[in-house]
Order: sequence, then structure tokens, then C-alpha cells
Amino acid sequence: MHSLNVKKSRYLSLLLLFLFFVPVSCVQKRLGINNNIIYRNGMVVCAYPDAAQVGLDILKKGGNAVDAAVAVQFALAVTLPEAGNIGGGGFMVYRSKTGESNTLDFREKGPAEANVNMYLDSAGNVIPNMSLYTHKASGVPGSVDGMVQAHSKYGKLKWADLVQPAIDLARNGFKITKHLAADLNHTSGQFKKLNPGKTYLMKEGEWQEGDILIQEDLAKTFEQIRDKGRDGFYNGVVADQLVAEMKNGDGLISKADLQNYHSVWRKPIIGNYKGYKIITMPPPSSGGIALLQLLQSVERYPLKRWGYNQDSTVRLIVEAERRVYADRSKYLGDPDFYKVPVDSLLRPAYITARMSSFSWDAATPSTSIQPGTFIGYESDQTTHYSIVDGDGNAVSITTTLNDTFGSRIFVQGAGFLLNNEMDDFSSKPGIPNMYGLVGGKANSIQPGKRMLSCMTPTIVEKNGKLFMVVGTPGGSTIITSVFQTIIDVIEFDQNMQQAVASKRFHSQWLPDEVATEAGALDSATVIKLQSKGYKITGRGGIGRVDAILKTKQGYEGGADPRGDDTKLGY
Ligand code: GLY
Repeated sequence: MHSLNVKKSRYLSLLLLFLFFVPVSCVQKRLGINNNIIYRNGMVVCAYPDAAQVGLDILKKGGNAVDAAVAVQFALAVTLPEAGNIGGGGFMVYRSKTGESNTLDFREKGPAEANVNMYLDSAGNVIPNMSLYTHKASGVPGSVDGMVQAHSKYGKLKWADLVQPAIDLARNGFKITKHLAADLNHTSGQFKKLNPGKTYLMKEGEWQEGDILIQEDLAKTFEQIRDKGRDGFYNGVVADQLVAEMKNGDGLISKADLQNYHSVWRKPIIGNYKGYKIITMPPPSSGGIALLQLLQSVERYPLKRWGYNQDSTVRLIVEAERRVYADRSKYLGDPDFYKVPVDSLLRPAYITARMSSFSWDAATPSTSIQPGTFIGYESDQTTHYSIVDGDGNAVSITTTLNDTFGSRIFVQGAGFLLNNEMDDFSSKPGIPNMYGLVGGKANSIQPGKRMLSCMTPTIVEKNGKLFMVVGTPGGSTIITSVFQTIIDVIEFDQNMQQAVASKRFHSQWLPDEVATEAGALDSATVIKLQSKGYKITGRGGIGRVDAILKTKQGYEGGADPRGDDTKLGY
């Protein structure tokens, strides 16, 4: 016993010495308690470790947040093939160190040959899976043009230096994680079925954690993008390969569609929550408007007093979500094709009127909620990254192929996956898409139109200074996950990592239920909610939020533990 104590105290002294002399971040990393390291010079939080490293390297080389974002976008297209992409699209919210804000819409567009009934059979019924796992499921990709636009407006380093890390990762390979191995194995049957004669992301037997994934065709595609910029994707050999793939699979995207694709700078949607300024994405994402509607709907209630995920808090949020998603189904679409009533949807009197039917006696059935009226009406698989540089410029980007691995169809010779974003249009009024979301005229299919999104890249300011950079994948749950993360920090005093890891719940009008992650609500709360008529269902992970909080000390990251998400700073 005595000798054991001596050994123990010697061990403790050695440990103390070790802790004293080894730099703090190093010790924290080694001890696995690096949840709250504060970085002063810049930070990258994204969904794959190698891509986070690429972003950090760019920051350390003197690149700004936009430079790092371009490099991360392309690195994710190599290392996170289920969502990172060049065959998809996304949205960027930007805030400069001086407080100037802007947004970039690089969402996919309907090809010129697309039409409103393209997924319906002769009886007018939606043909199952046609908008998901066929060549016709793809919108015209926007990611490469988006990165070119972002770089030419705000970038500092040379374009080629931002693309090169993706080439290196694709050509030399990288170690795959357990999650990626599982995703690849899970989808291998569909890859084989949808890609006769191709071998991308396929192998004999099962993928294992630690396998090296090499993508030579993708490396060659990135060389075209490195050397020719926009033309390296929308013209020339890669465009030829993409159009040939479409022709082989009866797809719609033509050379003209590629050449005509342009991303769009749009004025951010700006709102306020208890003095915090919320800078977020306007349509064609529904995310920004819905986020601000949710925040306004709950602002006057004492959430802090009620407590985190307690029954009153959950009930209020669910009732707000029910009404906001009902509005989304009717009023949100591509503003270049449909007049979205942004001001009306965000008017305080309108939000108050919408919430007036909420009663503490019982849940409001979704059947009794319709989209609101006002006078003067004028997957889950996506990925998000948040970046801040040493000067304080911030970038919040959410990008997607839509479903996990998009349409699961590769472009032969070019080594990248095509999106199935066309499913985000409303194939038929009232018929749900893969996320259970319904829509109508505002989000009907039209050539050249952008399909409605839920992506909600957001930047929050406090007292005129950067406060939070936040976003997440998760299809229809994106909006509610971003909302809950912001609320968890502002109302419930969680730090960034806690808020990102917090268990979430989600409700979206239809279906009329509250989906919850295991552990999100305690059993007493569940019983109280059920007694008031709420249908509580369980589901897997909700969202994978990657976020950065600016504190007095520096940048504090939140990397979602539901995936391989990684936060790196310096
Ligand atoms: N594809 C999912 C979204 O854009 O919301």
C-alpha cells in the first residue's frame, strides 16, 4: 500500500513537471482536453481533419479567410466526397474586419431543358427517385464559379496556391477515417449500380479506417481548375467530360448551361436578436429568413429562466418552427424568378400575429396551421465550414451535393460526383421532397432557376464586433440547428464547443412531430410534452455544426463531435 502511494506521488510530481514545462496547447492536445483552446491569429473549423489543416496552412502563409475558404472548399471535395464538392453548390456569408458584409450565392441552377413536370409520369404522379438518383437529378454546378468569384473579389494569395493542396491530396491520397470508410461501404452497392464501368471510390472488399484514398482523375480536374480558373471547369476538357456523362445517362446539363452559369453577390439579410446583429443568407436559401423569423418569434419570452431544453422552451420553439416552415412552403423560392416577400415575412407585427394562435393548453395541430397571410404581399448531407483570419475577416460557407454523395453518379474521366439538388425544387405542389419539405409555385422547377435551400451560413455581431461564425449541414434541420446553437450560446451561456455538441430537437410543420436526438430531452420533459399533444420521435444526429466564437481572449471553436469535424487555429 505504502509503496503504491510513493509510486503515485512520484507519478503526480512527474505529471506536474510535465504540465509546467510543455506548452499548454500541446498538453491539452495530448490529454485530449483541447475543447476550449483559444487562438489569437485565426481559426478553421470544418468537417474533415486534412481539409482543416489545408485551411490553417493557408492562414499561416498570410492568406486571408477567403483564401483559406477556397482551399478548404477544394480540399473537402477530395477528402469529404459525400458532401464536399466541385459538382454541387453553396452559399457564403462574408464579414470583413471592418464590418462590411456580403453574401455569395453559388447555388446550382436548373438546366435550360428542365421543366415543371419533368419528374411526373403521364398520370401526373411523381416518379420515385427520379429527382434523386439519375443524371436528370443534377442542377448546373456552382461551386467552382463561386470560389473564383470569392477569390477575385476578396482573395490575397495566388489562385494556383489555393487549388494545389487539393491536387496533392487527390494525387498522393489521404487516410480515410472510420466515418468515411463506413459511408463509402454503405453506398458501394449504389455506386456500382449507377456507375457501370467506373471504379471511383469503389474497391474490392470493404473500406477500412486508415486506407489511403487516391483520386488521380480528380487531381487532373483540379489541375485544369488551377491553370484555367473558371474555364478549367465550365469550358474545355472537364466541361466536355461532364456533358459526355450527361449524354450517356440521358441527363440535361449542356455546354451552354455550363457557360451560362454565374454565381451572384446578394445583399445579406440582416436582423437583430436582443442586440446581437444577425448577418445571414437571403433567398434562394430559405435559411436566413427562417432563422430570423424563429429568433423574432421567441425573443420576448424568458428562455433563460425556463432553461435549456425544458418543456416550456421546447414548446415555444416547436410552435415557432411549425409556423416558420409553413411559411417557407409557400413564400420562399429563387428571388430572380419569384417575388419573395422578405419584408412582410420579417415584419414584427406579422411574427407576433403568427405566434398569437399558440396556446399553453395544447399543441397546435399542424393541420390547423397554414402559411400566413399579410396585406400588401409583394440531407442530410451538406457540409459547413467557418473561418476567421488574423485580421478578423470571417467566412461562413455551407456547400452541398444534397444527399450523401449527391446523385452517386460520377463524371467519367473527371473523377467527381454530381449533385442531386433538383430534388430541392418542389416536383409537385404539396408532395414532400427527401427531407419531407413541401412547396409550391414559388419553388417550382424552371430553366435557369435556383432550387430553394435551407442552408444557413450566418455571422453574428455583438456591439459592432464579430461574435460568432456558424452553420451546419442537415437538410431541413439546418435552420433549426443554427437557431439552437445561437440560442444555446446567447440564452444558456454555453461555450462554443458545448453549443455545437448540444443535443438537438427539430420540428418542421409537416410531418407534425418533434424529432429528437437521444438525450436531447429528459423523460419528465417528454412526458409533459406528450401530455400536451406533442408527438415526440427519435432520430439520429441532427446537424453537424462547425462554428467559431470571438471572446475577449481570442477565437474559440466548436467542432461537431457527431462527425470528423476538426478545429485548428494558431
Ligand atoms: N440540399 C439541402 C439544402 O440546400 O437545403
